[in-house]
Amino acid sequence: MADSFVMTTFQWTADYAVGVRQIDEEHQRLFALAEEMHRAMLEGEGKAILQALLAGLVAYTSYHFAHEEQLMERIGYPGYREHRAQHEDLRSKAREMQDRASSGELTITVEVIQFLMEWVRKHIASSDCRIATHIKKSRRSLV
Ligand SMILES: [Fe+2]
Ligand SMILES: [Fe+2]
Repeated sequence: MADSFVMTTFQWTADYAVGVRQIDEEHQRLFALAEEMHRAMLEGEGKAILQALLAGLVAYTSYHFAHEEQLMERIGYPGYREHRAQHEDLRSKAREMQDRASSGELTITVEVIQFLMEWVRKHIASSDCRIATHIKKSRRSLV
């Protein structure tokens, strides 16, 4: 019971903190949008609303990715290309999901948001954390 509760809610917790304020705030917003979409589903909102919420979640993800990419460029992050390729991967998967949802081929379900948020969670825990570690190391070497 506790497990299914955890699996179907999208709460940002301190475990996801990477320690860079703007990134953490944007991640929190991403989780909040996913949670809002999940709630709308439980409340039985219709297809049009769910599609609009999915579009909002995907648009915000793109906005956040762009910020991270700018940050990586600014600091001369060595893993930039690989990180950007991961973002591209989700951007294209999300676009495909949106197209399939609007053509009626895909029904927006909890599994759809779960897929997106699982990807985001794993990405934060590995790749985004590596940017933060790099920033902390660079700061230390400046002192
Ligand atoms: Fe991120
Ligand atoms: Fe990222």
